[in-house]
Amino acid sequence: MSALAELPLLSLRSVRVGSRRDHEVREIVRGVDLDVLAGEKVGVVGESGSGKTLTMLSVLRLLPRPLEVLGGQIRFEDKILTELDERGMESIRGAGVAMVYQDPMTSLNPLLRVRTQVVETLRAHGSSDAAAGKRTREVLGQVGFVDPERVEAAFPHELSGGMVQRVMIAMAIATSPRLLIADEPTTALDVTIQQQILDLVDSLQSRTAMSVVWVSHDLGVIARLVDRVFVMYAGRVVEQAPTVRLFARPTHPYSQALLGSLPGPEVRHRARLTQIGGSPPDPTRLPPGCPFRARCPFAFDRCAEQEPPLLERGEGSLAACWKEPIEWL
Ligand SMILES: Nc1ncnc2c1ncn2[C@@H]1O[C@H](COP(=O)(O)OP(=O)(O)OP(=O)(O)O)[C@@H](O)[C@H]1O
Ligand code: SF4
Ligand SMILES: [Mg+2]
Repeated sequence: MSALAELPLLSLRSVRVGSRRDHEVREIVRGVDLDVLAGEKVGVVGESGSGKTLTMLSVLRLLPRPLEVLGGQIRFEDKILTELDERGMESIRGAGVAMVYQDPMTSLNPLLRVRTQVVETLRAHGSSDAAAGKRTREVLGQVGFVDPERVEAAFPHELSGGMVQRVMIAMAIATSPRLLIADEPTTALDVTIQQQILDLVDSLQSRTAMSVVWVSHDLGVIARLVDRVFVMYAGRVVEQAPTVRLFARPTHPYSQALLGSLPGPEVRHRARLTQIGGSPPDPTRLPPGCPFRARCPFAFDRCAEQEPPLLERGEGSLAACWKEPIEWL
């Protein structure tokens, strides 16, 4: 095995995202470390506003202005994305990393037929007209449309929410990406359709061995799909752990609270994170200390003084909490 093959496919180190105006820096993503191995399925979970989408958009360098990557390093395969120019990034988007966005209706062009949109994506990656047309029909079949011809000829508004999501997934996988980022691909859909979409991406993953990052505010929705979970809170990862370990023994009090309101990973039941008392803080206006302090039943003096770093807790788990910090080291 080459040295490169042993490296994670994607690696984020101390990634910070925010805005810079004059001398005022507003940091929303405050130093995220995250790795995805080749073929791995990873979940990124956290309440609304915790920085999940911005972290993922920083990988593709598609952050909305005035937001930008303020620091840290992002590597994909052998390329340091944070050092690539725009042309280099274009070669990564689609063929390397593809993303299914949170709001599909805004990412499809309402004026263009489905066929045109998928074909244009493929042509932008160097396919000939004939090859792009063939591949378009093929991927629309792969995402479960029994009549790809009819879907190809449709405008987005002629399709249901679930069908639009399938088209988005077809566009994302058309270029055979090594990594697919699925950002809350199902929240707007009813539970049955949601399940179908999750299962569809999962079966595409197992056939192609691409890596998948599932982003969700709902641990219950993605738990059965992922090998490892990154729990985000106020712009940072506060726990990362293999899914089995997280469910058996969550370390961070925030993860414990999330799991306290959830059934086991096999139960297809939706539970809202808002069942945890209090509300998440604004990551740009944090007081010193641990950002979870105001909601944490275990907070003690040290928690007010310094924000805890991610520390090893055994069995592949890392957690950012001052409680029981030493014994696993
Ligand atoms: N375009 C923007 N300009 C300024 N601030 C933004 C912008 N987009 C998001 N934010 C801020 O960044 C925070 C994190 O946003 P992000 O979209 O990453 O959250 P999220 O974890 O994906 O939440 P959700 O579960 O609601 O999708 C938000 O609370 C918001 O205040
Ligand atoms: S560091 Fe303190 S406040 Fe933060 S989660 Fe741990 S015990 Fe709670
Ligand atoms: Mg989001």
